[in-house]
Amino acid sequence: MRFRVALIVLSDRAASGERADGCIAVMKEHLGDAYSIVRESVLADEPAELQAALIEIADSGAADLVLTSGGTGLSPRDRTPQATAAVVDYEVPGIVEAIRFESLAFTRTAMLSRAIAGVRDRTLIVNLPGSPKAVAESLDVILDALPHALELLNERGEHE
Ligand code: MTE
Repeated sequence: MRFRVALIVLSDRAASGERADGCIAVMKEHLGDAYSIVRESVLADEPAELQAALIEIADSGAADLVLTSGGTGLSPRDRTPQATAAVVDYEVPGIVEAIRFESLAFTRTAMLSRAIAGVRDRTLIVNLPGSPKAVAESLDVILDALPHALELLNERGEHE
């Protein structure tokens, strides 16, 4: 089956048009044909806007997976993890633990991403860092495990 995925970039500068977003294209390229993109948005680093978007997508059942990109670092405007934590029913720490662990081989600053992953209703939400390079490296880590996660959320997976 093709999983439905919503892509959300968090960046003040991309949202205002000050610079072009390069992350959505990388996400699409890495996801490939197993996923159909149901939504793409570039939002400012405003937690209320992200929370509203995540709630709307998950509660309407519009997507099986939401990938966010950006706003996971340490600056005062980096508030994607807080916004995500506020709306998920439970976290799935292994996903982001794996990303950080594997990413350390590429850059020691991988430890600076506070990204979280979690589930709201039946939608898996995963925060990714905000550069095209980081998005590509992070998706490479989790792509093999994502189908099983999404099947389990839809109760089509084998639990044994
Ligand atoms: N992870 C990978 N795989 N590759 C990267 O280049 N950059 C790091 C980190 N994670 C990076 C990465 C850096 S420099 C930062 S500051 C944090 O992600 C947070 O990035 P963000 O604020 O764009 O979300």
